Amino acid sequence: MKFPDNFLIGAATAAHQVEGNNIYSDFWAMEHVPHSVYKEPSLDAVDHYHRYEEDIRLLKGAGCNAYRFSIEWARIEPTKDIFDSKEMEHYKDVLEFCHQNNITPIVTLHHFSSPKWLIAEGGWESETTIEYFVNYCRYVVSELGHLIPYICTINEANMGKQITKIMKRMMGSDTAKGKHAEVQVGLNVATETKMEKYFRELGETFAIDPRKVQPFLSPRTENGELIIMKCHEKARDLIKAINPKIQVGITFSLYDHQALPGGEEFVEKEWQEDFLGYLPFLQEDDFLGVQNYSRKIHGPEGIVHPDEHTRRTKMVYEYYPEALGKVLDFVSKHWTKPIIVTENGISTGQDEERVEFIKRALAGVYCCLEKGIPVIGYTYWSLLDNFEWQLGYDQTFGLIAVDRSTQTRYPKESLSVLGEIKKSGL
Ligand code: BGC
Repeated sequence: MKFPDNFLIGAATAAHQVEGNNIYSDFWAMEHVPHSVYKEPSLDAVDHYHRYEEDIRLLKGAGCNAYRFSIEWARIEPTKDIFDSKEMEHYKDVLEFCHQNNITPIVTLHHFSSPKWLIAEGGWESETTIEYFVNYCRYVVSELGHLIPYICTINEANMGKQITKIMKRMMGSDTAKGKHAEVQVGLNVATETKMEKYFRELGETFAIDPRKVQPFLSPRTENGELIIMKCHEKARDLIKAINPKIQVGITFSLYDHQALPGGEEFVEKEWQEDFLGYLPFLQEDDFLGVQNYSRKIHGPEGIVHPDEHTRRTKMVYEYYPEALGKVLDFVSKHWTKPIIVTENGISTGQDEERVEFIKRALAGVYCCLEKGIPVIGYTYWSLLDNFEWQLGYDQTFGLIAVDRSTQTRYPKESLSVLGEIKKSGL
C-alpha cells in the first residue's frame, strides 16, 4: 500500500503546547492564577520556539514531507492593535526552514490559545472578536501568505459545542460517567470551592466579570457558534482576496459515532451537531481538516461507555485506530473537496502501541483513497511530547520524547515508521 507521491505525511503541533513562554496568552494567565485547575503551567514547554530547526530536521530526516503548526496570535499581537514584527520574522524563519527542507507547511491561525486582551474584551462570545481575528489574519497573511500553501483558520471549531454537551451530560449523569467525560476534553476534576475561587481569580486577572470569561475552550452559546463561523468565513474571504493560491480550510474534532440497535437517532444527532450543521459555512472552503482520536458508541439510552476490559489509551479513550477511516468515510458522503487529516494520534507510554495505531489508522486512510475519497494528507498528533492543556506534561502523544530538564530530543521508533510509510508504503 503505497501512498501517492504528492500525499502529505508528517506531524502536527500547536504553538502554546510546544513553543514555551507564551506569556501574553489567555492560557498563560489561566495556568498562573493561584487556584488554577491546570495540573501545571506550560513554562518553557519543549522550547520549540528556539529548537524548531532541530525538530523539523528530525521530521525531514525520517522521510516525512509535511508539518502542521500554529502561529500564535498572542505573540503577534500581544497588546490590542500593536503588532510585533520581530515575532513575524520568527514565523517567517520557520516557514522558510520548512521550504528549504522540502517540508510542506500547513499553518493554523488559531489553535485554542488567544491573546489575554481578547478575553478581557469578551473573548469568544463577543461580536468584536470577529473584527479582531480578521485584523490579525490580515497582518499575518499579507506578510507571510506567499510562504503558506495551506491555512487552517481555526482548530476544532466545534470544540465549544462538544464541551457544552459534555457539561450537560455531566450535570445529568452520575459521577463516574461525568468524570469519564471530563477526562475526554482534558478538563481537570476540581471541587466546587476550588472552581469558585478559580473563576473569581480569572475575573480578576482578565479584569472582567468572571461569568463573562470566555476563552476558546469554554461551553458556547448558539451565538458564540455563529461568531466562530463568521470569524472563519471572513478570514477565508480575506485570505483568498490577498492570495487566491492559498488553500483555506478549518478543522473539526470528529468522533466515529457508532449505533447499537436503538442508538441510531443519537448517532444522527451527534453528526448533525459535530459536523453537518457547520457545512453551510464551509461551502467556499478549499479543504476540510479532520481530527479524530477514537469512537463513541450509542445505544437506546445514549452513550454506552466502554467496559473495564476495553483497551484504552493514556487519555482513557478507547484504543480504536479504525475510527479514522470510518470518520473519513462518513465525511466524504457530505464533502467532496480535498480532506487533510490534520490530527490523529495516541497518548501512550509504549511506542509499539503508537506504531500499531499509526499503521492501522493509515490503513483506513489508504482504503479511503482506494474508494476515491480525496484525502490529500495526514499529520500525526503530535511531533513532540508536549503540554496537553489542563492535563500538563504527563500525556505522551509525541513521535519524539523530550527531557524537559535539558530539552534533549529522543526520537521514537514511531517517527521512523511514519517516515518509512511515506517512502515505501504500509
Ligand atoms: C487538540 C490538541 C490536543 C489533542 C490531544 C486535539 O483536540 O487540537 O491541541 O493536544 O487533541 O488531546
